[in-house]
Amino acid sequence: MTNSLHTEDGLLTLGVRDRWYALCPSRQVRPGELTRIDRAGEELLLWRDSSGVVHVQEDRCPHRAARLSLGVHMGDRIACNYHGVQLDGDGVVASVPGSPGCALEGRKALRTFPAREHAGAIFAWFGADEDAEPAPLRVPEPISGGDWDDFLCYVEWDCSYLLSVDNLMDPMHGAFLHRNSHTMFSGKREAVFQIRDTDTGFVFEKTDQRGVNFDWSEWVDTGGLQSVTLDIPYPATAGPGGPFTIVACVTAINEHQHAGFFWRCRKVRGWERDSWRFLYKNRLEARHWQVLEQDRAMAEAMPADAWARENLYQHDIALVRLRRMLRAEAKRQAASRAERRPARAAAR
Ligand code: FES
Ligand SMILES: [Fe+2]
Repeated sequence: MTNSLHTEDGLLTLGVRDRWYALCPSRQVRPGELTRIDRAGEELLLWRDSSGVVHVQEDRCPHRAARLSLGVHMGDRIACNYHGVQLDGDGVVASVPGSPGCALEGRKALRTFPAREHAGAIFAWFGADEDAEPAPLRVPEPISGGDWDDFLCYVEWDCSYLLSVDNLMDPMHGAFLHRNSHTMFSGKREAVFQIRDTDTGFVFEKTDQRGVNFDWSEWVDTGGLQSVTLDIPYPATAGPGGPFTIVACVTAINEHQHAGFFWRCRKVRGWERDSWRFLYKNRLEARHWQVLEQDRAMAEAMPADAWARENLYQHDIALVRLRRMLRAEAKRQAASRAERRPARAAAR
């Protein structure tokens, strides 16, 4: 864990703890390979054991900190390439070939993060207390299976994840930035918004238009996973079925880059599902990418101090609320960490 994760600002810009984070698409971690990624302030090694189960561990050998991602995949163990120490998927040292029987053998010495695969992505739990049990991974309904179908669209953008959260909680940009798109060309270009509380967050919605453009966003925190859900109406050319729902999760890579997961979902069954899947691959996906590209260009070009000099108005009240919530959580976690640190030092 980087030192900046001890501070309120660090936790805000890299992501608060005690959350599940989407790390990467499942396909990025191939059998027999060691995959290195940075996410939310952690340097990570991802690999699959011989049953295909994915493991997420710190990319740091417990012997002398060499990068395990430069090591050897042995099926159900990995071996550090520096002096050959072998570790299993639970982070236990399975063998020290250069010094058999040494005290390191059998010790859980490698930080290992609880990991799950769901909806085509790998998730890991980053706990404030490394040894505490994670909350259950509860995902929003559109990516929980059942009557819904989805495609995962994955991006890496060169800007803070916080700017993507702003973008997702800002329905009004649909009628302006995306006005020439196939989905957001109609409806009013002015609106009055309201906030409606839910059990898992809040909905930010236009009071005078729904089902016409990008008219609402919902912040969802299901006791561990933070995401945004929104609806965009599909035109008739998108075939039968309801609107186009997006579930989005964003995860910091570092302070200046983030990974974005956009599950593009539709509640369709039977032949309508087949029809959507066909149309999506053949026509809709390229158009959706064009829209996302408009978001990327806007977000990446934002000044680094964008939040320092803003003049917000009524359409921005969701951002204000969410930023306040995230900062309050970062502050609480930094304070609790500071409290725990002297206790930990005394215990040593
Ligand atoms: S640093 Fe990994 S085995 Fe020595
Ligand atoms: Fe957008």
